[in-house]
Amino acid sequence: MSNHYTNNKINNQLSPLVQQALERYRTFLSRDEFTQLTTFLIKPIIPSVRINLLKQDPKEFIGSLKMRYRWEVQPVPFCSSGFWVKSPPEEISATIEHRMGFYYIQEAVSMLPVELFDFAKNPKPLILDMAASPGGKTTHLADKIGDQGLIIANDASRSRIQALRVILENWGVMNAAITCQNGSYFGEQYPDSFDYVLLDAPCSMENLRNSASHSMRAITSSERRQLANRQLNLLRSAIRTVKPSGQVIYATCTLSPEEDEAVVSAVLDEMQDIITLDDVSTKLPTPAPALRWDGSRRYPDDMEKALRLWPHIFGTSGFFSARFTKIQSIKKKSRSSTHQERASFSKRFSQLQKKDTKSLWQYFQTSYGFNLEQLLERQMLSLWSRGKEIWAIPILLFEIFPTLPLVSAGMHIAKIIPGGYLPSHAFIARFGTQFQFGNLTLEDSLIGKWLRGEDLAGYEAKDYKRGNIVVITDKKGRNLGRGKVLTDRLKNLLPSRLF
Ligand SMILES: C[S@@+](CC[C@H](N)C(=O)[O-])C[C@H]1O[C@@H](n2cnc3c(N)ncnc32)[C@H](O)[C@@H]1O
Repeated sequence: MSNHYTNNKINNQLSPLVQQALERYRTFLSRDEFTQLTTFLIKPIIPSVRINLLKQDPKEFIGSLKMRYRWEVQPVPFCSSGFWVKSPPEEISATIEHRMGFYYIQEAVSMLPVELFDFAKNPKPLILDMAASPGGKTTHLADKIGDQGLIIANDASRSRIQALRVILENWGVMNAAITCQNGSYFGEQYPDSFDYVLLDAPCSMENLRNSASHSMRAITSSERRQLANRQLNLLRSAIRTVKPSGQVIYATCTLSPEEDEAVVSAVLDEMQDIITLDDVSTKLPTPAPALRWDGSRRYPDDMEKALRLWPHIFGTSGFFSARFTKIQSIKKKSRSSTHQERASFSKRFSQLQKKDTKSLWQYFQTSYGFNLEQLLERQMLSLWSRGKEIWAIPILLFEIFPTLPLVSAGMHIAKIIPGGYLPSHAFIARFGTQFQFGNLTLEDSLIGKWLRGEDLAGYEAKDYKRGNIVVITDKKGRNLGRGKVLTDRLKNLLPSRLF
């Protein structure tokens, strides 16, 4: 009786769509588990952040955030750079550290897929993020490869590409390129090409949680079928484009078995000589096996190697992930001619002449004591120009994918201006605090104005000449972007999107 009363009380707090989905999922779980799930669903989801490993050490940095903002944090058990933060969400997104790309606000469960790859065996991997926008998982991949190898971040939606560009720039990613293709393009045009492929598939998002960024919506059965077909096609392409012994992660943020176990099962049936389903259960501290029965169909015993994260297991939204290893190549199709005919990136950009390259090295050395030459060598980047803009672009891109149609690649480093260079915001935000000189520390009283994007009128920058570009920091050593020293003020060069 009291159980019934409690269940009704809980149900009344859940949206009709969640209740409807729960009715269907009830049979997949034991009674205890189902009660845990429903009890959990009425609790608010705790926001989480992932620290940018390209810019700092996660433990030290989260420590400084805790002190500065009085955050109460708890580590995400399957991602060492992820932390739940007990603080109002608006505060988490309003900090300068967030705006400057020192951490990413990401649902804890979205930190899982990238953690499932075994990167250790491949120090300079080629990675395809097949459905990448807005780029949360691409930034995670970039952290994992630590400026080595190459990531192709692709998304089919042109309208979502700009967000991807901004997020990668803000994160300070250099070893990546962006493409805008249907994911099936890679399987057709680039068989056996990547060491790792992440397919974070478009899905119904039936994850039982409503958040600020999305709420569950009604899905018709025909829409679900269409989604499952699209997912299967993309997964086939992912398997085709990965190299033999390479890994593919299939992830969705839905608990709908048609888009999860059924897709995995279909691809296993179809490609049983080509792939194996890997056991990734050891990547989690608590078991979260995928289903072997979904109310209407049975799946192979193997399916338990994949992960189905019911929200109550780790206090997240619902999620599904599976990892495959390719054991042999699929018979090659010849590449279509359209691929070869497409305009290559190097037609729009030209490689920087040796003397111009040296001049830029020298500029960074004399203005900031920063060794650009060493950085380019270490990360296997070369310098390219388009008009007056100079970019550092991964050499692997031209070696391995010379005709891949790109939206953008690498990082914008500087602009040629009369008498010198203007280093880019992205470059300064990534490396500014490593400069030996050319830094200017602002008084606390000026920080508010600076972060609102205002120039500092009457500011006298001792030690610097008019026209110098300086890295602004505060007394805590936080990187606050670029400033230009003028006779009557310090000009604020923070990009307007940051304030
Ligand atoms: C779940 S979201 C990806 C989220 C992203 N991985 C992240 O972590 O920020 C799915 C993405 O798939 C893209 N998409 C949909 N159909 C696609 C296709 N056929 N090929 C490639 N991308 C596709 C959508 O535009 C959407 O950005």
